[in-house]
Amino acid sequence: MNAFEYKNNLLHAEDVNLRELADAYGTPCYVYSKAAIEANYRAYKNALSQWPSRICYAVKANSNLAVLNLLAKLGAGFDIVSIGELERVIRAGGDVKKVVFSGVAKRSDEIRRALVMGIDCFNIESTAELQRLDAITSEMDIYANVSLRVNPDVDATTHPYISTGLKENKFGVDINDALEIYQQIAKCSHLDAVGVNCHIGSQLLDLNPFQSCYEKIYKLVDQLSDAGIQLKHIDVGGGLGIRYENSEQPPTMQQYADVLAPFMKGRDVEIFIEPGRSIVGDAGILLTRVEHIKSISDKNFALVDAAMNDLLRPSLYTAWHDISTVEKTDGQTTKYDVVGPVCETGDFLGKKRDLSIHEGSLLAVHAVGAYGFVMSSNYNTRLRAAEILVDGDQAHLIRMRETFDQLLANEIIPD
Ligand code: LLP
Repeated sequence: MNAFEYKNNLLHAEDVNLRELADAYGTPCYVYSKAAIEANYRAYKNALSQWPSRICYAVKANSNLAVLNLLAKLGAGFDIVSIGELERVIRAGGDVKKVVFSGVAKRSDEIRRALVMGIDCFNIESTAELQRLDAITSEMDIYANVSLRVNPDVDATTHPYISTGLKENKFGVDINDALEIYQQIAKCSHLDAVGVNCHIGSQLLDLNPFQSCYEKIYKLVDQLSDAGIQLKHIDVGGGLGIRYENSEQPPTMQQYADVLAPFMKGRDVEIFIEPGRSIVGDAGILLTRVEHIKSISDKNFALVDAAMNDLLRPSLYTAWHDISTVEKTDGQTTKYDVVGPVCETGDFLGKKRDLSIHEGSLLAVHAVGAYGFVMSSNYNTRLRAAEILVDGDQAHLIRMRETFDQLLANEIIPD
């Protein structure tokens, strides 16, 4: 579904007029659509309904408590990568029994807290981590489920920064060593190997890497079974891409499930999936206002009030996000680089965009519901943006704009 559409020449989030929202809450602000998040979650649930399945939403994509609460109410599990994310899941009313803990370098205190809270499964990524978990569970006398993250050495053909399934990446263990590691796990008194997991990268638009990955993972599952190790779940990670540019054609969740189907045939295992981007990505926009228009020799800049500290993706990955005016205009367009106030040439939201704008125009930067606000910072002592969740004709402020008092509260000038 597209939750952001023009009605009476004004861009709306569901039934809420974005100009009114900007006037009420100020800019920059993130606006999410509840209906879009729900629709994305349900699309996964439906596509996987032929098997026992658990959708462990990747908290890192958008960790606002209201978003987590919404997904918890839909029955989601959660994929966390830090104890901070676990605290969020708990405070949002998520079920800790449906939490899997990923990440390459879990600290001992994080492991202890997760054990005490009773999360479902530790996705372990190295033998060093296995030894640490073994020692801590024995010492605390708490049992834990584990899944081994295997690195299948598959090229996800995505941006190198978000490609994770190649041998040279820091993630997981070499799939060829997996059997031996499962045999080690079997010897750990307080650990139970219940699953296997993988994650080859994010923003995948091609299903072939998934196919290659499953070939390897399911072969391993059979080898383990032959060795007497029966797994209860297979966690296929996240990674289904979304459409940022019109030319991109992401696979549907049903097509994704169709790739999985032959591998799942005749198996008595639960399928886990850890989607982030495809649940929240297209459900969010960033609202920003044009402060100034600046023209130099052969170039025009739209200087807006959002910057790389609010949305890092364009600067970090040269990611492309559609930018449109909130007011639909039929007027003459001009090419603009849409840039923020931060003192870096790398501070841009979009380049060479055809827009019909003037000082004060409102712009929407699209498909920023995932890895948008969560990657924001206070660089240049800029306050982090407000976040708003729209539900039909209702707008809920789900994160107040930061204040300077909050921003400076932890800083200390020594006597
Ligand atoms: N599971 C694991 C273990 C992950 O590392 C990730 C993402 C996911 C699940 C969720 O993947 P998704 O469904 O969202 O593709 N900041 C980058 C994306 C980094 C993704 C890191 N891992 C960006 O803005 O594109």
